[in-house]
Amino acid sequence: MNMNEKQRLEGQQVATANSSDKKSAKDYSKYFEQVITAPSLKDAKKRGKEEVKYHNDFAIPEEFRGMGEGRKFYIRTYGCQMNEHDTEVMAGIFLALGYEPTDNTEDANVILLNTCAIRENAENKVFGELGHLKALKLEKPDLLLGVCGCMSQEESVVNKILKTYHHVDMIFGTHNIHRLPNILNEAYMSKEMVVEVWSKEGDVIENLPKVRRGKIKAWVNIMYGCDKFCTYCIVPYTRGKERSRRPEEIIQEVRHLAAQGYQEVTLLGQNVNAYGKDLEGLNYGLGDLMDELRKIDIPRIRFTTSHPRDFDDRLIEVLAKGGNLMDHIHLPVQSGSTDVLKIMARKYTREQYLELVRKIKAAIPNVALTTDIIVGYPNETDEQFEETMSLYREVGYELAYTFIYSPREGTPAAKMEDNVPLEVKKERLQRLNNLVNELSLEAMKKHVGQTVDVLIEGESKNNPDVLAGYTTRNKLVNVIAPKSAIGKIIKVKITDAKTWSLNGEMVEELEPVEVK
Ligand code: 5AD
Ligand code: SF4
Repeated sequence: MNMNEKQRLEGQQVATANSSDKKSAKDYSKYFEQVITAPSLKDAKKRGKEEVKYHNDFAIPEEFRGMGEGRKFYIRTYGCQMNEHDTEVMAGIFLALGYEPTDNTEDANVILLNTCAIRENAENKVFGELGHLKALKLEKPDLLLGVCGCMSQEESVVNKILKTYHHVDMIFGTHNIHRLPNILNEAYMSKEMVVEVWSKEGDVIENLPKVRRGKIKAWVNIMYGCDKFCTYCIVPYTRGKERSRRPEEIIQEVRHLAAQGYQEVTLLGQNVNAYGKDLEGLNYGLGDLMDELRKIDIPRIRFTTSHPRDFDDRLIEVLAKGGNLMDHIHLPVQSGSTDVLKIMARKYTREQYLELVRKIKAAIPNVALTTDIIVGYPNETDEQFEETMSLYREVGYELAYTFIYSPREGTPAAKMEDNVPLEVKKERLQRLNNLVNELSLEAMKKHVGQTVDVLIEGESKNNPDVLAGYTTRNKLVNVIAPKSAIGKIIKVKITDAKTWSLNGEMVEELEPVEVK
């Protein structure tokens, strides 16, 4: 299929090797023969007004059916839950093509690395793995090796793979997942590396097949993309503009999961609080959606990730109704300094964030709050870092994911001068992590003596005689219980607290909790 035809069929504006974008043309000219569609961060940044189209017509093209007969696939997933869920969709497509899954790279005929671009060390892990896989590829020349996910959306990554990792057979982007059958076919037919990365987001395709990894907990996408453009973050470029799924599609999916016996769903989006803003003609937000979902007979509903700016009163009011809406909120703050928040373009102040926390705590008194924090932002002063430390205590977070700022090419922050030495950044991270551990243990200790509901997920990682699961507040609990408790919510009396987990004794086994 030529480019024009593809653009016409898919309604996409793609950056190509011969596009008018000089940078792309220059970078890719050497590889022109092998490039189908290459990414451009500049194009990825554009936010068009055109309507998102919804499709329900995905089908495996006739000519590709049975492509996977006698072949096995392996997908390694890096990064966030969104990637985990994309892997479930790709696995669904592989199965529909007749491939079998394997969890051993040596048995695989196709290996995909579903990558994460959020920080440099995430990318380095992938490049390291690509290096390791070279030997396997030399042993098995018929093996297809592919790179997909967020890193594929970056021009610099695609260039690097084209130049250095010649044993890669295909690169495709986050908006091209539904094109997997065509991409595999091209890779089988062509001796050259197949690159298909659309910079502009695709439409929403509702009926992609998926194979969920577990039978107890499930991810449900409620929206794709992000329009927030925090100055450090690559996600708006790799995942495109915000597109919400229609409420009826989400409700139907959750109902279906409940009917299949799932005990928990986590609603996914890069910024779930912006849910619904793009739904033309509908005045409908995350609070409205949660208010409908809570009536479904499924024991637990969570959501991630929240942006404080869009966290509205309607959502708080609905979450306060409790029932199957869990009393844990992950609310990334990133910094406790209003000045740093401003440079990050987070669009809230320290005071506004604290006011939101106050409202949430007033409405949901038992809520567990967790967060994400970046330390060592360009030019972050000692005082500004101290404001993060003091905010951490003031909120009383129960856990945090903490990161040293990592410049991402193409983002505004990557152009900022930075006068904070790496040693200072590391010291700040260490001090913050000590505080995180201290408050985590404190929060854990408060559970000792309480009897809590635990959704048992399976055997504990370290001891198969012990089962492990999570409380409503998302605390990991280890408990001795019969294997029949796996997949059920049981009552556990907490006996002992550690920094990252609780130990307890089973009190009684429960039927799935009743939902009001
Ligand atoms: N450097 C460091 N951390 C980052 N995050 C996002 N982008 C960067 C970056 N460039 C962190 C934020 C976000 C989490 C998913 O990753 O804290 O909430
Ligand atoms: Fe990145 Fe989250 Fe900011 Fe979006 S809201 S730009 S995903 S940090």
